[in-house]
Amino acid sequence: MASSTNPSPTPALLPPPSGSYVVPECPETRAIELSLVLPTFKEAQNIKPALRAVCNTLSQVESLTYEVIVVDDNSPDGTADLALELSNTIPGIRVIRRTRESGLATAVIRGWQAARGEILAVMDADLQHPPEVLGQLVQAIRGGADLAIGSRHVEEGGVSDWSILRRIVSRTAQMIGLVLLPDVVGRVSDPMSGYFMLKRRTIAGKPLNPTGYKILIEILGRGAIGAIVEVGYVFRERQEGSSKISTRIYLQYLQHLLRLRVDLLAQSPFIRFCLVGATGYLVDMLLLYLLSDPQALGFGLTRGKIASAEAAIVNNFLWNDAWTFARLVGRERSLRKKFRRFLKFNAICALGLVLSVVLLNIQFNWFGINRYLANTVAIVVTMLWNYTLNKRLGWRTTG
Ligand code: GDD
Ligand code: MN
Repeated sequence: MASSTNPSPTPALLPPPSGSYVVPECPETRAIELSLVLPTFKEAQNIKPALRAVCNTLSQVESLTYEVIVVDDNSPDGTADLALELSNTIPGIRVIRRTRESGLATAVIRGWQAARGEILAVMDADLQHPPEVLGQLVQAIRGGADLAIGSRHVEEGGVSDWSILRRIVSRTAQMIGLVLLPDVVGRVSDPMSGYFMLKRRTIAGKPLNPTGYKILIEILGRGAIGAIVEVGYVFRERQEGSSKISTRIYLQYLQHLLRLRVDLLAQSPFIRFCLVGATGYLVDMLLLYLLSDPQALGFGLTRGKIASAEAAIVNNFLWNDAWTFARLVGRERSLRKKFRRFLKFNAICALGLVLSVVLLNIQFNWFGINRYLANTVAIVVTMLWNYTLNKRLGWRTTG
Protein backbone atom coordinates (compact mmCIF):
# COMPACT_ATOMS: atom_id res chain seq x y z
CA MET A 1 0.00 0.00 0.00
CA ALA A 2 1.69 3.17 -1.11
CA SER A 3 1.17 6.43 0.61
CA SER A 4 1.97 9.80 -0.83
CA THR A 5 1.08 13.30 0.13
CA ASN A 6 0.09 16.03 -2.16
CA PRO A 7 -0.75 19.13 -0.16
CA SER A 8 -0.71 21.70 -2.93
CA PRO A 9 -2.74 21.83 -6.12
CA THR A 10 -0.91 20.26 -9.04
CA PRO A 11 -1.24 21.64 -12.58
CA ALA A 12 -3.36 18.61 -13.50
CA LEU A 13 -5.99 19.85 -11.06
CA LEU A 14 -6.78 23.13 -12.78
CA PRO A 15 -10.36 23.38 -14.03
CA PRO A 16 -10.63 21.55 -17.35
CA PRO A 17 -10.96 23.88 -20.36
CA SER A 18 -13.79 21.82 -21.87
CA GLY A 19 -15.84 21.97 -18.69
CA SER A 20 -15.89 18.20 -18.34
CA TYR A 21 -13.73 15.85 -16.33
CA VAL A 22 -12.23 12.60 -17.56
CA VAL A 23 -11.02 9.80 -15.31
CA PRO A 24 -8.06 8.00 -16.95
CA GLU A 25 -7.61 4.25 -17.40
CA CYS A 26 -6.04 2.32 -14.52
CA PRO A 27 -2.26 2.76 -14.23
CA GLU A 28 -0.29 -0.25 -15.47
CA THR A 29 1.22 -1.06 -12.07
CA ARG A 30 -2.08 -2.26 -10.59
CA ALA A 31 -0.57 -2.15 -7.13
CA ILE A 32 -3.76 -0.90 -5.53
CA GLU A 33 -7.19 -2.48 -5.67
CA LEU A 34 -9.34 0.21 -4.04
CA SER A 35 -9.17 4.01 -4.08
CA LEU A 36 -11.64 5.57 -1.66
CA VAL A 37 -12.26 9.31 -1.90
CA LEU A 38 -13.41 11.32 1.12
CA PRO A 39 -14.51 14.79 -0.01
CA THR A 40 -14.21 17.35 2.76
CA PHE A 41 -15.21 20.86 3.48
CA LYS A 42 -14.89 22.09 7.06
CA GLU A 43 -14.64 18.68 8.69
CA ALA A 44 -11.86 19.49 11.19
CA GLN A 45 -13.66 17.67 13.98
CA ASN A 46 -14.50 14.61 11.92
CA ILE A 47 -11.63 13.98 9.55
CA LYS A 48 -9.25 12.20 11.91
CA PRO A 49 -11.76 9.85 13.54
CA ALA A 50 -13.28 9.19 10.11
CA LEU A 51 -9.92 8.33 8.54
CA ARG A 52 -9.00 6.10 11.48
CA ALA A 53 -12.28 4.22 11.29
CA VAL A 54 -12.09 3.83 7.52
CA CYS A 55 -8.48 2.62 7.45
CA ASN A 56 -9.15 0.29 10.35
CA THR A 57 -12.06 -1.33 8.53
CA LEU A 58 -10.31 -1.50 5.17
CA SER A 59 -7.22 -3.14 6.60
CA GLN A 60 -9.42 -5.96 7.84
CA VAL A 61 -10.81 -6.74 4.39
CA GLU A 62 -9.10 -9.85 3.07
CA SER A 63 -6.12 -9.20 0.77
CA LEU A 64 -7.22 -5.65 0.06
CA THR A 65 -4.69 -3.05 -1.03
CA TYR A 66 -6.10 0.45 -0.80
CA GLU A 67 -5.55 4.18 -0.67
CA VAL A 68 -7.79 6.78 0.92
CA ILE A 69 -7.75 10.14 -0.85
CA VAL A 70 -9.01 13.19 1.00
CA VAL A 71 -10.07 15.92 -1.42
CA ASP A 72 -10.43 19.15 0.52
CA ASP A 73 -11.58 22.46 -0.91
CA ASN A 74 -9.17 24.56 1.10
CA SER A 75 -11.28 24.42 4.25
CA PRO A 76 -10.58 27.41 6.50
CA ASP A 77 -10.65 25.16 9.59
CA GLY A 78 -7.49 23.30 8.53
CA THR A 79 -9.13 19.96 7.60
CA ALA A 80 -6.46 19.23 4.98
CA ASP A 81 -3.59 19.80 7.41
CA LEU A 82 -5.14 17.46 9.94
CA ALA A 83 -5.50 14.77 7.28
CA LEU A 84 -1.92 15.34 6.20
CA GLU A 85 -0.76 15.02 9.79
CA LEU A 86 -2.47 11.66 10.12
CA SER A 87 -1.02 10.44 6.83
CA ASN A 88 2.37 10.45 8.52
CA THR A 89 1.27 7.72 10.91
CA ILE A 90 -1.33 5.80 8.92
CA PRO A 91 -0.15 4.51 5.54
CA GLY A 92 -2.38 4.76 2.51
CA ILE A 93 -3.74 8.27 3.14
CA ARG A 94 -3.28 10.93 0.45
CA VAL A 95 -4.46 14.51 0.54
CA ILE A 96 -5.44 16.79 -2.31
CA ARG A 97 -6.18 20.42 -1.59
CA ARG A 98 -8.13 22.32 -4.24
CA THR A 99 -7.97 26.08 -4.25
CA ARG A 100 -9.57 27.03 -7.56
CA GLU A 101 -12.57 24.74 -7.61
CA SER A 102 -15.22 23.73 -5.16
CA GLY A 103 -18.20 21.45 -5.00
CA LEU A 104 -18.75 17.95 -3.73
CA ALA A 105 -19.28 16.12 -7.04
CA THR A 106 -16.26 17.56 -8.83
CA ALA A 107 -14.10 16.97 -5.73
CA VAL A 108 -14.94 13.28 -5.97
CA ILE A 109 -13.95 13.09 -9.64
CA ARG A 110 -10.74 14.98 -8.91
CA GLY A 111 -9.91 12.31 -6.35
CA TRP A 112 -10.63 9.55 -8.87
CA GLN A 113 -8.45 11.27 -11.45
CA ALA A 114 -5.52 11.00 -9.07
CA ALA A 115 -6.52 7.50 -7.92
CA ARG A 116 -4.51 4.39 -8.72
CA GLY A 117 -6.99 1.67 -7.87
CA GLU A 118 -9.21 -0.37 -10.14
CA ILE A 119 -12.14 0.11 -7.80
CA LEU A 120 -13.14 3.75 -7.26
CA ALA A 121 -15.21 4.67 -4.24
CA VAL A 122 -16.64 7.59 -2.31
CA MET A 123 -18.02 8.15 1.15
CA ASP A 124 -18.70 11.17 3.34
CA ALA A 125 -16.02 12.25 5.81
CA ASP A 126 -18.44 13.17 8.58
CA LEU A 127 -19.07 9.63 9.91
CA GLN A 128 -22.68 9.65 8.68
CA HIS A 129 -21.82 6.73 6.40
CA PRO A 130 -20.94 3.73 8.63
CA PRO A 131 -17.50 2.33 7.62
CA GLU A 132 -18.60 -1.24 8.46
CA VAL A 133 -20.43 -1.37 5.13
CA LEU A 134 -17.17 -0.89 3.17
CA GLY A 135 -16.33 -4.60 3.33
CA GLN A 136 -19.69 -5.59 1.83
CA LEU A 137 -19.31 -3.06 -0.96
CA VAL A 138 -15.85 -4.39 -1.84
CA GLN A 139 -17.21 -7.96 -1.85
CA ALA A 140 -20.05 -6.94 -4.16
CA ILE A 141 -17.61 -5.47 -6.68
CA ARG A 142 -15.29 -8.46 -6.37
CA GLY A 143 -18.34 -10.63 -6.96
CA GLY A 144 -18.91 -9.05 -10.36
CA ALA A 145 -20.96 -5.90 -9.80
CA ASP A 146 -19.98 -2.80 -11.78
CA LEU A 147 -21.49 -0.59 -9.12
CA ALA A 148 -22.13 -1.26 -5.41
CA ILE A 149 -24.24 1.30 -3.59
CA GLY A 150 -24.84 1.94 0.07
CA SER A 151 -28.60 2.40 0.11
CA ARG A 152 -30.97 3.79 2.71
CA HIS A 153 -33.98 2.35 0.96
CA VAL A 154 -33.36 -1.39 0.90
CA GLU A 155 -33.57 -3.89 3.76
CA GLU A 156 -31.27 -3.00 6.66
CA GLY A 157 -31.23 0.55 5.35
CA GLY A 158 -32.74 3.73 6.73
CA VAL A 159 -32.22 7.17 8.13
CA SER A 160 -31.85 7.81 11.84
CA ASP A 161 -33.77 10.76 13.06
CA TRP A 162 -34.86 12.65 10.00
CA SER A 163 -37.70 15.11 10.35
CA ILE A 164 -40.78 14.57 8.19
CA LEU A 165 -39.75 17.66 6.23
CA ARG A 166 -36.30 16.33 5.36
CA ARG A 167 -37.78 12.97 4.32
CA ILE A 168 -40.28 14.75 2.07
CA VAL A 169 -37.59 16.93 0.49
CA SER A 170 -35.37 13.91 -0.16
CA ARG A 171 -38.20 11.86 -1.68
CA THR A 172 -39.46 14.79 -3.77
CA ALA A 173 -35.98 15.28 -5.21
CA GLN A 174 -35.95 11.60 -6.10
CA MET A 175 -39.41 11.84 -7.73
CA ILE A 176 -38.37 14.79 -9.90
CA GLY A 177 -35.34 12.78 -10.96
CA LEU A 178 -37.57 9.82 -11.80
CA VAL A 179 -39.82 11.93 -14.00
CA LEU A 180 -36.94 13.57 -15.87
CA LEU A 181 -34.60 10.60 -16.10
CA PRO A 182 -36.57 7.40 -15.46
CA ASP A 183 -33.94 5.13 -17.04
CA VAL A 184 -31.20 6.62 -14.90
CA VAL A 185 -32.72 7.47 -11.54
CA GLY A 186 -35.09 4.49 -11.64
CA ARG A 187 -32.27 1.97 -11.79
CA VAL A 188 -31.53 2.09 -8.07
CA SER A 189 -33.49 2.52 -4.86
CA ASP A 190 -31.28 5.31 -3.50
CA PRO A 191 -30.00 7.44 -6.39
CA MET A 192 -29.17 10.21 -3.90
CA SER A 193 -26.59 8.06 -2.13
CA GLY A 194 -23.12 9.52 -1.69
CA TYR A 195 -21.72 6.15 -0.54
CA PHE A 196 -20.71 3.76 -3.33
CA MET A 197 -17.99 1.93 -5.27
CA LEU A 198 -17.59 1.24 -8.96
CA LYS A 199 -15.25 -0.40 -11.42
CA ARG A 200 -13.01 2.21 -12.97
CA ARG A 201 -13.48 0.91 -16.50
CA THR A 202 -17.18 1.86 -16.44
CA ILE A 203 -16.25 5.55 -16.52
CA ALA A 204 -12.62 5.68 -17.71
CA GLY A 205 -12.23 7.99 -20.70
CA LYS A 206 -15.81 9.26 -20.57
CA PRO A 207 -16.38 13.00 -20.11
CA LEU A 208 -18.20 13.69 -16.85
CA ASN A 209 -19.87 16.97 -16.10
CA PRO A 210 -21.64 17.01 -12.74
CA THR A 211 -22.64 19.92 -10.58
CA GLY A 212 -23.65 20.03 -6.94
CA TYR A 213 -23.87 16.89 -4.81
CA LYS A 214 -25.24 14.03 -6.85
CA ILE A 215 -22.26 12.32 -8.36
CA LEU A 216 -24.08 8.97 -8.46
CA ILE A 217 -26.62 10.27 -10.98
CA GLU A 218 -23.78 11.34 -13.25
CA ILE A 219 -22.24 7.87 -13.02
CA LEU A 220 -25.55 6.14 -13.75
CA GLY A 221 -26.24 8.52 -16.64
CA ARG A 222 -22.89 8.52 -18.38
CA GLY A 223 -21.10 5.39 -17.19
CA ALA A 224 -21.30 1.97 -18.82
CA ILE A 225 -22.90 0.39 -15.80
CA GLY A 226 -24.05 -3.23 -15.98
CA ALA A 227 -24.73 -5.16 -12.79
CA ILE A 228 -25.62 -3.13 -9.70
CA VAL A 229 -25.71 -4.34 -6.08
CA GLU A 230 -27.30 -2.33 -3.27
CA VAL A 231 -26.25 -2.78 0.33
CA GLY A 232 -28.47 -1.38 3.09
CA TYR A 233 -27.05 1.07 5.61
CA VAL A 234 -28.44 3.45 8.19
CA PHE A 235 -27.55 7.09 7.60
CA ARG A 236 -26.28 8.23 10.97
CA GLU A 237 -26.88 11.59 12.57
CA ARG A 238 -24.08 14.10 12.31
CA GLN A 239 -22.25 14.47 15.63
CA GLU A 240 -19.83 17.26 14.74
CA GLY A 241 -19.78 20.14 12.26
CA SER A 242 -22.70 20.84 9.96
CA SER A 243 -24.13 19.77 6.64
CA LYS A 244 -23.23 21.96 3.68
CA ILE A 245 -26.50 21.30 1.90
CA SER A 246 -28.29 24.50 0.92
CA THR A 247 -30.93 25.86 -1.45
CA ARG A 248 -28.18 26.42 -3.97
CA ILE A 249 -27.34 22.72 -3.86
CA TYR A 250 -30.99 21.83 -4.59
CA LEU A 251 -31.00 24.21 -7.56
CA GLN A 252 -27.76 22.65 -8.78
CA TYR A 253 -29.44 19.27 -8.54
CA LEU A 254 -32.22 20.44 -10.89
CA GLN A 255 -29.66 21.96 -13.25
CA HIS A 256 -27.71 18.70 -13.19
CA LEU A 257 -30.83 16.65 -14.03
CA LEU A 258 -31.74 18.91 -16.95
CA ARG A 259 -28.21 18.92 -18.34
CA LEU A 260 -28.07 15.14 -18.22
CA ARG A 261 -31.51 14.88 -19.83
CA VAL A 262 -30.52 17.11 -22.75
CA ASP A 263 -27.11 15.47 -23.20
CA LEU A 264 -28.53 11.96 -23.16
CA LEU A 265 -31.24 12.89 -25.64
CA ALA A 266 -28.74 14.55 -27.97
CA GLN A 267 -26.63 11.40 -27.82
CA SER A 268 -29.49 9.08 -28.66
CA PRO A 269 -28.98 7.78 -32.21
CA PHE A 270 -32.71 7.83 -32.82
CA ILE A 271 -33.03 11.52 -31.98
CA ARG A 272 -29.99 12.31 -34.12
CA PHE A 273 -31.42 10.23 -36.95
CA CYS A 274 -34.66 12.23 -36.71
CA LEU A 275 -32.82 15.58 -36.72
CA VAL A 276 -30.84 14.50 -39.77
CA GLY A 277 -34.11 13.28 -41.25
CA ALA A 278 -35.51 16.79 -40.77
CA THR A 279 -32.75 18.27 -42.94
CA GLY A 280 -33.41 15.53 -45.50
CA TYR A 281 -37.06 16.46 -45.38
CA LEU A 282 -36.25 20.03 -46.39
CA VAL A 283 -34.04 18.83 -49.25
CA ASP A 284 -36.72 16.40 -50.42
CA MET A 285 -39.57 18.94 -50.25
CA LEU A 286 -37.63 21.69 -51.98
CA LEU A 287 -36.54 19.45 -54.84
CA LEU A 288 -39.98 17.89 -55.16
CA TYR A 289 -41.37 21.38 -55.59
CA LEU A 290 -38.74 22.45 -58.15
CA LEU A 291 -39.05 19.27 -60.19
CA SER A 292 -42.70 18.29 -60.01
CA ASP A 293 -44.80 21.34 -59.19
CA PRO A 294 -46.88 22.45 -62.16
CA GLN A 295 -45.69 26.00 -61.47
CA ALA A 296 -42.02 24.94 -61.55
CA LEU A 297 -40.46 22.36 -63.92
CA GLY A 298 -43.59 20.23 -63.87
CA PHE A 299 -42.06 16.74 -64.33
CA GLY A 300 -44.23 13.78 -63.31
CA LEU A 301 -44.77 13.23 -59.58
CA THR A 302 -42.98 9.88 -59.47
CA ARG A 303 -39.94 11.05 -61.44
CA GLY A 304 -39.66 14.19 -59.30
CA LYS A 305 -40.03 12.20 -56.11
CA ILE A 306 -37.32 9.68 -57.02
CA ALA A 307 -34.83 12.47 -57.72
CA SER A 308 -35.72 14.48 -54.61
CA ALA A 309 -35.62 11.40 -52.38
CA GLU A 310 -32.22 10.37 -53.73
CA ALA A 311 -30.86 13.83 -53.00
CA ALA A 312 -32.20 13.52 -49.44
CA ILE A 313 -30.58 10.10 -49.11
CA VAL A 314 -27.17 11.53 -50.01
CA ASN A 315 -27.69 14.41 -47.59
CA ASN A 316 -28.79 12.07 -44.79
CA PHE A 317 -25.93 9.67 -45.38
CA LEU A 318 -23.30 12.38 -45.01
CA TRP A 319 -24.76 13.65 -41.73
CA ASN A 320 -25.48 10.23 -40.27
CA ASP A 321 -22.02 8.97 -41.09
CA ALA A 322 -20.32 12.00 -39.56
CA TRP A 323 -22.61 12.41 -36.56
CA THR A 324 -25.43 9.98 -35.77
CA PHE A 325 -23.36 6.84 -36.08
CA ALA A 326 -19.92 8.43 -35.58
CA ARG A 327 -19.22 6.04 -32.74
CA LEU A 328 -19.97 3.00 -34.89
CA VAL A 329 -17.84 4.34 -37.70
CA GLY A 330 -14.89 4.48 -35.31
CA ARG A 331 -11.65 4.28 -37.23
CA GLU A 332 -13.23 3.17 -40.52
CA ARG A 333 -12.79 6.59 -42.04
CA SER A 334 -11.18 5.76 -45.38
CA LEU A 335 -13.07 6.94 -48.45
CA ARG A 336 -13.41 3.40 -49.73
CA LYS A 337 -15.13 2.25 -46.54
CA LYS A 338 -17.25 5.36 -46.46
CA PHE A 339 -18.38 4.65 -50.01
CA ARG A 340 -19.27 1.08 -49.11
CA ARG A 341 -21.36 2.33 -46.21
CA PHE A 342 -23.03 4.73 -48.60
CA LEU A 343 -23.92 1.90 -50.99
CA LYS A 344 -25.35 -0.10 -48.12
CA PHE A 345 -27.33 2.88 -46.83
CA ASN A 346 -28.56 3.57 -50.32
CA ALA A 347 -29.66 -0.04 -50.78
CA ILE A 348 -31.65 0.08 -47.55
CA CYS A 349 -33.13 3.47 -48.41
CA ALA A 350 -33.98 2.29 -51.93
CA LEU A 351 -36.52 -0.03 -50.36
CA GLY A 352 -37.73 2.92 -48.31
CA LEU A 353 -37.90 4.96 -51.48
CA VAL A 354 -40.20 2.44 -53.16
CA LEU A 355 -42.37 2.52 -50.06
CA SER A 356 -42.32 6.31 -50.12
CA VAL A 357 -43.30 6.56 -53.80
CA VAL A 358 -46.14 4.09 -53.35
CA LEU A 359 -47.45 5.89 -50.27
CA LEU A 360 -47.23 9.26 -52.01
CA ASN A 361 -49.08 8.05 -55.09
CA ILE A 362 -51.81 6.29 -53.14
CA GLN A 363 -52.53 9.43 -51.10
CA PHE A 364 -52.28 11.83 -54.03
CA ASN A 365 -54.01 9.82 -56.77
CA TRP A 366 -56.59 7.84 -54.80
CA PHE A 367 -57.49 10.25 -52.03
CA GLY A 368 -56.64 13.56 -53.65
CA ILE A 369 -54.46 14.62 -50.72
CA ASN A 370 -52.22 17.66 -51.34
CA ARG A 371 -48.85 16.47 -52.69
CA TYR A 372 -46.78 18.14 -49.97
CA LEU A 373 -48.90 16.86 -47.11
CA ALA A 374 -48.87 13.40 -48.71
CA ASN A 375 -45.10 13.61 -49.09
CA THR A 376 -44.70 14.53 -45.42
CA VAL A 377 -46.64 11.44 -44.35
CA ALA A 378 -44.62 9.30 -46.76
CA ILE A 379 -41.33 10.66 -45.41
CA VAL A 380 -42.19 10.07 -41.75
CA VAL A 381 -43.20 6.47 -42.39
CA THR A 382 -40.12 5.89 -44.52
CA MET A 383 -37.84 7.36 -41.90
CA LEU A 384 -39.05 4.93 -39.23
CA TRP A 385 -38.52 2.11 -41.71
CA ASN A 386 -35.02 3.33 -42.60
CA TYR A 387 -34.00 3.77 -38.97
CA THR A 388 -35.13 0.29 -37.99
CA LEU A 389 -33.41 -1.37 -40.91
CA ASN A 390 -30.17 0.60 -40.59
CA LYS A 391 -30.02 -0.21 -36.90
CA ARG A 392 -30.72 -3.91 -37.51
CA LEU A 393 -28.16 -4.25 -40.27
CA GLY A 394 -25.57 -2.07 -38.57
CA TRP A 395 -23.73 0.97 -39.83
CA ARG A 396 -20.41 -0.80 -40.34
CA THR A 397 -19.62 -2.64 -43.51
CA THR A 398 -17.05 -4.96 -41.97
CA GLY A 399 -17.29 -7.08 -38.84
N1 GDD B 1 -14.44 18.86 -1.23
C1 GDD B 1 -15.68 19.20 -0.89
N2 GDD B 1 -16.24 20.32 -1.46
N3 GDD B 1 -16.39 18.45 -0.03
C2 GDD B 1 -17.63 18.83 0.29
C3 GDD B 1 -18.26 19.97 -0.26
C4 GDD B 1 -17.51 20.76 -1.18
O1 GDD B 1 -17.96 21.77 -1.70
N4 GDD B 1 -19.51 20.07 0.27
C5 GDD B 1 -19.65 19.01 1.10
N5 GDD B 1 -18.52 18.27 1.14
C6 GDD B 1 -18.25 17.05 1.90
C7 GDD B 1 -18.55 17.16 3.36
O2 GDD B 1 -17.44 17.63 4.09
C8 GDD B 1 -18.90 15.70 3.71
O3 GDD B 1 -17.73 14.93 3.92
C9 GDD B 1 -19.58 15.21 2.46
O4 GDD B 1 -19.11 16.05 1.39
C10 GDD B 1 -21.13 15.28 2.54
O5 GDD B 1 -21.53 16.61 2.78
P1 GDD B 1 -22.70 16.99 3.82
O6 GDD B 1 -22.84 18.46 3.77
O7 GDD B 1 -22.43 16.36 5.15
O8 GDD B 1 -23.93 16.34 3.09
P2 GDD B 1 -25.24 15.65 3.70
O9 GDD B 1 -24.92 14.88 4.93
O10 GDD B 1 -26.30 16.66 3.78
O11 GDD B 1 -25.59 14.61 2.51
C11 GDD B 1 -24.71 13.56 2.22
O12 GDD B 1 -25.24 12.30 2.42
C12 GDD B 1 -26.31 11.96 1.57
C13 GDD B 1 -26.80 10.59 1.89
O13 GDD B 1 -25.85 9.61 1.61
C14 GDD B 1 -24.21 13.65 0.79
O14 GDD B 1 -23.19 12.69 0.58
C15 GDD B 1 -25.30 13.38 -0.18
O15 GDD B 1 -24.78 13.35 -1.48
C16 GDD B 1 -25.89 12.04 0.17
O16 GDD B 1 -27.01 11.83 -0.62
MN1 MN C 1 -23.24 14.73 6.07
